[in-house]
Amino acid sequence: MLSPRLNMIKKAIVPGESIADIGTDHALLLQDLALEGQEEKTLIGTDLNSEPLKKAQEHLKEKGLENRVQLRQGDGLNPLAPAEVQGVVIAGLGGLEIKRIFEESKEKAKTFETFYLLPHQQAAQLREYIFDNGFTLFAEDLAKEKDHFYFLLIGKPGQEKREWTQTELELGPLLLEKKHPMLPPFIKKRMKDFQRILKKIEKTGDSPCQQMLVLEQKIEEYGEVLEWLLK
Ligand SMILES: C[S@@+](CC[C@H](N)C(=O)[O-])C[C@H]1O[C@@H](n2cnc3c(N)ncnc32)[C@H](O)[C@@H]1O
Repeated sequence: MLSPRLNMIKKAIVPGESIADIGTDHALLLQDLALEGQEEKTLIGTDLNSEPLKKAQEHLKEKGLENRVQLRQGDGLNPLAPAEVQGVVIAGLGGLEIKRIFEESKEKAKTFETFYLLPHQQAAQLREYIFDNGFTLFAEDLAKEKDHFYFLLIGKPGQEKREWTQTELELGPLLLEKKHPMLPPFIKKRMKDFQRILKKIEKTGDSPCQQMLVLEQKIEEYGEVLEWLLK
C-alpha cells in the first residue's frame, strides 16, 4: 500500500500516461503504477545516486517488474530525452532543489506535458518559480502523512498571466479556490508554529523586532483565511 503522500500523486496521474519519476529512490510509485497499469505505458525511474537504484532494481525484481520499469542514473531531467514521457514526477526533494532542476533543463522541461511536483518543503518558492517561468499550475492537492503536510503541484508548460499574493503562494491558490478540506488543519498548524517562534523571541526580552511584526501579521492573515474557509 502506498503512503498517503505517494497515493495522492498516483491518484492525480492520468491513466495510461507515460511517466518518469525523478529521484525515484525505492521506485514504490512506479511499482504501483506498473502493477495497476493495463496499458504498456513507458515507466522510467531516475536517481542521482546508484545505491537507491540498486535497491529499486531489487524491489522490482522481487515483483517480476524489472523489464517493465527502466532505471537510469543522473541529475534531474538529464537522464530523459526531450518529450520521452508525458508526465514527470518529482517528489521528496526540497522546492529549491526542484527549482534548480527546472532551471538547468528549462527548454527540455517544456517538452513534457504534465509535472507532478511534491516538494517536502519550500512549496511557496516553487509555486512562484512555476508562475514566473513559463509554466501554469492547473491543479493542486494537499495530504497529511504522520505530522507533516505535503502539497502536490500539478503544472504544465504555458505562461499564465496572473498575480499571486504571498499568502496564495504559501497556501496554494487552487487549494484556496476549492476550499480544500486539509487547508484548515494546515493553517492551524502553521499558526501554532508562528506563535511558538513569536514566544521564543519574546522570551529573549529584546525590543520588538522586524521578525516579530512579520509573524504577528502572518498570524492575523492566516486567521482571516481560516475564518473565511470555515464560513
Ligand atoms: C527522499 S527521497 C524521495 C523518494 C521518492 N521520490 C518519494 O517521494 O518517496 C529523494 C531521492 O532523490 C534522489 N535525488 C536527490 N537529488 C536528486 C537529483 N538532483 N536528481 C535525481 N535524484 C535526486 C536521492 O538520491 C533520493 O533517492
